[in-house]
Amino acid sequence: MKCAIILAGGKGTRMKTDAPKVMCEVIFEPMIKYVVDAVKDAGADDICVITGYKHEIVEGYLSSYDSKIKTALQEPQLGTGHAVMQARDFISAHRNDDILILNGDGPLMDADTINKAYDYHKQNSNAITLISAIVEDTDGIGHIKRDENGVLERIIEHKDANEEQKKINESNAGTYWFNGSELLYALDRITNNNAQNEYYLTDSLEILIKKGMNAGAYVCENNEAILGANDRKQLNILNNIMRRNINDSLMLDGVDIQCTDGVMIGKDVNIGSSTRILPNTIILGNTVIGDGCVIGPNTYIKDSEIGNEVILDNCKVTDSKIEDGADCGPFVKVRAGSVLKKGVHIGNFVEVKNSVVGEGTKSAHLTYIGDSDVGKNVNFGCGTVTSNFDGKEKSRCTIGDGAFIGCNTNLIAPVKVGELAYIAAGSTITDDIPDEALSVARAKQVNKEGWVARKKPYKNQK
Ligand code: UD1
Ligand code: CA
Repeated sequence: MKCAIILAGGKGTRMKTDAPKVMCEVIFEPMIKYVVDAVKDAGADDICVITGYKHEIVEGYLSSYDSKIKTALQEPQLGTGHAVMQARDFISAHRNDDILILNGDGPLMDADTINKAYDYHKQNSNAITLISAIVEDTDGIGHIKRDENGVLERIIEHKDANEEQKKINESNAGTYWFNGSELLYALDRITNNNAQNEYYLTDSLEILIKKGMNAGAYVCENNEAILGANDRKQLNILNNIMRRNINDSLMLDGVDIQCTDGVMIGKDVNIGSSTRILPNTIILGNTVIGDGCVIGPNTYIKDSEIGNEVILDNCKVTDSKIEDGADCGPFVKVRAGSVLKKGVHIGNFVEVKNSVVGEGTKSAHLTYIGDSDVGKNVNFGCGTVTSNFDGKEKSRCTIGDGAFIGCNTNLIAPVKVGELAYIAAGSTITDDIPDEALSVARAKQVNKEGWVARKKPYKNQK
């Protein structure tokens, strides 16, 4: 059985944030989400996260993400070895299993690398297998020290290394496979006798080698997988790598991204082939987009379902569903559980909130459709407003199929407009309109001939 411990107790001083470091975001998701996903994808089903600094933030996030994840509190935070010591009960319960331990601040570690390291771990009957990679920037890393024959000896933290050791460019990823009972053995022997006075998890390598156990390092080909972030500059590097990885994989699946400038797409987003994504477009959360759409430029979509051949030009769409062939934009906002049915057209400066808009309905400009149930083939004139809020309560408007709503109409909710009803421009509708009726709700026009000559209302008028 595979299980995992994720280290997430550190403060991350160099991030200069009040939040725990693992909550710092890569493509709008906390780093720890990626680590949890990688661990699950690798098949570890029992997961324990070590929390510490501002633990309630990490615990709150984890319980909303996956309530099965366990946590163990590390207070105070005395190093990565000390962090793992807080999970003794979890480890004891898994003493006969293989335990994966990872840093919560390494979001690029992937299931494939974890599983290859696991195979290597089992083939060599190792007590400990760590993942390493050859890196260019050796600043701050744990250096993997081998003897002249390449046999593993120990890990030397950068702060403890001498000038010669600092040149070693094989870096410890912070991802390890341990045999459960050997991990317990090592934890009993880790001390804080080092430059940082911390209990280093990395010391368990030398401890288990001295015990005569098998130990190995799985050197991964993809040296980006091991990158972590200690400050905002490194976080930006991780964002760029993640963004490139996600965009590349979408393009290989047939998504058309001619220019990736400003295109940030979340890892869990699904996009159909031959959909085109234009610059400055952010697509996040559990969003699904069909085939043949044109999304962007300058569009933001979160947690929404978009059908096939939909056009979203300069739109913001959240928690909503937009069906096949709908065409929105520019400058459109669709939110709060709205549904735009097939072939709907929503034009510039229109907002749709918590409303269902029926097939073929058109709202071309300057309109607010809030808390409304709109039928098929309705025509909204420019400047229509559903007045859904009376200062205390929100109410709904219902608009029947084929209704024609003249420009600058106010619909004072709750109100019902019948099928094929016709509303004169400038009306303020407070009462229900029967099917097929004309409704005029405005003051009658009065023209006063010669009034300007008599009144002389203008400055300098003779
Ligand atoms: C660690 C490794 C180093 C490796 C590097 C890879 C040790 C001693 N060093 O160094 O060999 O090259 O990761 O990124 O392990 N944490 C706790 N409690 C603590 C301290 C840290 O939970 O008391 C957590 C942090 O939240 C973080 C992870 O452990 O997610 C790693 O801690 P960090 O301080 O970033 O270790 P590094 O110095 O990067
Ligand atoms: Ca780190």
